[in-house]
This record gives sequence, C-alpha cells and structure tokens, in this order.
Amino acid sequence: MERALLVAARLKRSRDEQLAWQIQDSLDELAQLAWTADVEVVGRATQQLDRINPSTFIGKGKLEELQDLREDLDYNVVIFDDELSPRQQRELEKALGDSVKLLDRTALILDIFARHAHTREGALQVELAQYQYRLPRLTRAWTHLARQAGGAAGRGGTGGVGLRGPGETQLEVDQRAIRRRIAHLRRELEDVRAHRRQHRQRRQREAIPVVALVGYTNAGKSTLLNALAGSNVLVEDKLFATLDPTTRRVEVPGGRAVLFTDTVGFIQKLPTMLVAAFRATLEEINEADLLLHVVDITHPRALQQSLTVGEILSDLGATGRPIIVALNKTDRLPDPDGVALRLAEFPNSLAISALEGRGLLELLERVNRVLEASMIPVTVRIPYGEARLLALFHQRGNVEREEHGPQGVLVQGRIPAALVGRFQHLVQEKPHCDAVVRHGSPGDASRK
Ligand code: GTP
Repeated sequence: MERALLVAARLKRSRDEQLAWQIQDSLDELAQLAWTADVEVVGRATQQLDRINPSTFIGKGKLEELQDLREDLDYNVVIFDDELSPRQQRELEKALGDSVKLLDRTALILDIFARHAHTREGALQVELAQYQYRLPRLTRAWTHLARQAGGAAGRGGTGGVGLRGPGETQLEVDQRAIRRRIAHLRRELEDVRAHRRQHRQRRQREAIPVVALVGYTNAGKSTLLNALAGSNVLVEDKLFATLDPTTRRVEVPGGRAVLFTDTVGFIQKLPTMLVAAFRATLEEINEADLLLHVVDITHPRALQQSLTVGEILSDLGATGRPIIVALNKTDRLPDPDGVALRLAEFPNSLAISALEGRGLLELLERVNRVLEASMIPVTVRIPYGEARLLALFHQRGNVEREEHGPQGVLVQGRIPAALVGRFQHLVQEKPHCDAVVRHGSPGDASRK
C-alpha cells in the first residue's frame, strides 16, 4: 500500500477573499484524489510562503521537516498540491531519496485518468498527456520511467527501443523513444477524431438538439444521465469516474428527442495539458445547444466549484449559450426549506435529486422551453412531393399552423437553427395572413 504525505504551499500575499480556495479545502480535495488512486494519506504539511522556491517549491526548513516526518509517518509517497516544474521535481527527488515516490497533483490526476479511460480515444488522450508531462521531467534511467508510467510504457509503444546510438546516453534514448511514441499517438488520435467528426455531422443533419452535462467532478452528472435515460452509465463515488463522453437519447415532455451527453468532470488546478489533451472530447460542449451545469449543492465548497466550472468553460470558449444549473443531491440537505435560499445564489437554477429522481420532470420541461426559445420561426410551403420534409418539420420543429392547398402544405411554426438551410428554398416571403417569416439567426430583424 502506498502511504502518502500531502504537501501544499500558499503565497502569503494571495488574496484571502471568501471565494478563493483555501489551502485546507484544496488539500481535502487532494486527499480525495489520492483515495481515488488507492493511496492512503498518512499526513499533511502546509506552508505560507512569500514566494515559491524555484528549486524546491517549499522552503529549505520545510523540506527538512518533511524528511524528519519520514520516521514518524512511514510515508513512501509525497504528493504536492501544485504542479512542480521539472527542476523542482529533480531537486525534491534528490532530497527525498530513491525510496520515496514524488508526485504532484497533475501526475495524480493523470494516473486517475489513465485508470478510468475506457474508450480508445480516452486512452490515447491520456497516454499522450502522460508522455508530454514526463518528457521534460525525465531525469533517471528507464527503470524509473517504467515505474512511473503505470504500465503505459511497458504496454509497448516505447518498450524495447533501448538500443543506444554512438555517444548517446540512456536518457537520450528514452527521450527519443518517448518523442516517437508521442508522434505515433497524435496520428492515431487524429484518425479516431475524424471518425467522431463524421458522427457529429450526421447528428447535425438530423438536427437533434444536444444538451451537454457539465460540472465539477463527483457532482452527479452520470447519475443524472442514468436517471434521465434509464441507462447504465458508470457511477462511482470517486473522482473522474467518467472520462469518455457518453451520449443518450431522451424524450422531453412534448415528445421531442434530445441528446444528453456526459462529459469529463472538472476540478480546480486542472492541468492545462489535460485540458488541451481533452479539447477534442470537450468539443462536445462547444457543439451543444444547451449546457446543463450539475452542482453538488451539499458540498461545502459548492459555489467555488461552480465558479471553477465557469472559468474552465470560458477557457474552452464554451460560454455564450444557454445554461441551466441543476442543484443536485437535495435529498441530502438537512433543511429542505434551505433549498430556496441556495436557488437564489445560482442564476437559472432548479433543485433536483438525481438519485431519487426528484425534480427531473421539471428539469426536462425547462430544457424543452429553453431549446424551443432558441428555435427560429418560419413559414414554408412544402410541395406534396416532399413529404419527408413535412415529416421532418413535425419531428424536429413545432408546428403552429398547417393548411393544405393546391401547391402543397403551408406550415407555420418554429424549427431548430440547424434545419433552416433545409427549408430555405420553401420559405414564404409573403406569408398567408399575418404570419411572421424569419430565417437566419435568432437575432435577425423580422420581415413582415
Ligand atoms: P465524475 O465522473 O467524477 O465527473 O462524477 P459525476 O459528476 O458523473 O458523478 P456520479 O454520477 O458518478 O456521482 C458521484 C457520487 O454522487 C455517486 O456516489 C452518486 O451515487 C452520488 N450522487 C449522485 N447524485 C446524487 C443525488 O441526487 N443524491 C445523493 N445523495 N447522491 C448522489
């Protein structure tokens, strides 16, 4: 069993405002990450610093304190709550000795991601991120790499490429092998992504609206997807149980089909490298018509978590579309009357319990309303020879009026923006009665 000592430092001058993550909160989260990775936490050490030490992250005295704790706590792993630079990693490894494994938050998250990647794309992305993280940190010989690689290196890509060129050190051989593996992984990922793009295009042609579930890790996104779709997506009380996007088709009140897609959970200090590695998967978020932000309202840091999610969404360029906030796990709130107060804290929110199925009908109604509001009003005349288009209008749009005439069926109603192009040639410039004809973006001025 790995026994870990957790270490966090905080700059003295960092703003201590109410919304900031406090050092102990962040360590609580790190402890949960460690637990998720099957590592036992045996102690914590914290330090307030004027500035981060560029060579050892923490101060010299603190480092000695960590060494002294070795006897008492019998730890064999040290985990830093912030990402260490390659230099800090090297110096700390030297100071702590060979028998102690040194990790930082990024390496730990990468390790958890590696365990939870089930699809081919997920596994490729994580392996790529792991090698990119390790390349600049490679200081010891291959054995060290193999130990840290958690099987990825041994699984084959780089293993066995150990032949040294003239004058080349083992370290250089290892670096060369890793670079080659990185290039190979990039090519494979591109293939997988091309395939997924095709899927997405098909979905867009059918104009089925997409709702992306986003939220902090462990908020209950998979549980909610299961409850909505009656499916069996993996649910675990562990961080990052869901790594790969899972999509389910759900009928909302009124009969409209909507695709709900689950995405990887977010976390503060999410390594930028991982965000980059998952950018393609997270494109699902960018393509969504609506974001459903799931918040674990029973978490003591629910508000901070939701702000962190907001920041990551804006880093991904995914803002600027409607968001509904679902305050989840309300079954665990001791005071049911407190829910109203919490709702006021979060704009566009409603209370649910994914586990007990509470508030889900109201949630689906809200989803439907928001999706409808984003549809485009049109009036079209569909010739009798194009019965499939009439069926499509009924399936994906909202028909408000339908009249059968000699040249076809006049339909007035609303359709998803993605379908406007399909009906463009049938739009009635001079509609019957006083119907409003509009096409283009929802913001276009209406033509009467
Ligand atoms: P990641 O995969 O980490 O992103 O997590 P997630 O957001 O998909 O969370 P998941 O659905 O795996 O749920 C995490 C834990 O919260 C599980 O133990 C669930 O049973 C629990 N949970 C989810 N929804 C509810 C709820 O409404 N009430 C209660 N009491 N527990 C819930």
